[in-house]
Amino acid sequence: MTQKTVLVTGANKGIGLEIARQLLTRGCSVIISGRDSEKLATAKVELQKENHEPGILIMNVSDTESIANAANYLSSLNIKLDVLINNAAIMDSLDKDLSEQDLALLEKTVRTNAYGPLQIIKSFLPLMNNPSRIINISSSGGSMTDPVGGWSPAYCVSKSL
Ligand SMILES: NC(=O)c1ccc[n+]([C@@H]2O[C@H](COP(=O)([O-])OP(=O)(O)OC[C@H]3O[C@@H](n4cnc5c(N)ncnc54)[C@H](OP(=O)(O)O)[C@@H]3O)[C@@H](O)[C@H]2O)c1
Repeated sequence: MTQKTVLVTGANKGIGLEIARQLLTRGCSVIISGRDSEKLATAKVELQKENHEPGILIMNVSDTESIANAANYLSSLNIKLDVLINNAAIMDSLDKDLSEQDLALLEKTVRTNAYGPLQIIKSFLPLMNNPSRIINISSSGGSMTDPVGGWSPAYCVSKSL
């Protein structure tokens, strides 16, 4: 099987880092992406200690310019992707009650969790192989069977879009 190239956003920790680890273990070429170069470097070292060699890509998923720069950078390296995993997301600890919280929190959450992945898809489509896969990590919070409002409403709204 040809080696697949996978980009994982928000991969400096949590589920994204574990996705990267699992795919590296299975022989994929993995690019871990994040907004913080130091955190990314730390994650890379952690994976290197397990004999993996991930690529790294700095990209803030809530910043259109950062997304464009990241896509241009990969393009300049002639890198094509087989899989794009939109994993990065936020859930703010102040996200409790839409009627009381600052609407800027809703805006930031939706920009990061919903517009971010959409902008990334638009910017990275020219870099996707044919065939390829795009995976968007959602949440039960965005499910119609788990009504918005019970917990972290901005997060739930962002995951239902
Ligand atoms: N954990 C769960 O139980 C659960 C359940 C259902 C769905 N999910 C979904 O699974 C995914 C991963 O969740 P997790 O629990 O692993 O979350 P996490 O531990 O909080 O990790 C989130 C990752 O996203 C990154 N990120 C946040 N905002 C970003 C931005 N603007 N630009 C670039 N990277 C950004 C974070 O980077 P920083 O370190 O720089 O903040 C971090 O690497 C999310 O989409 C989440 O909604 C999680």
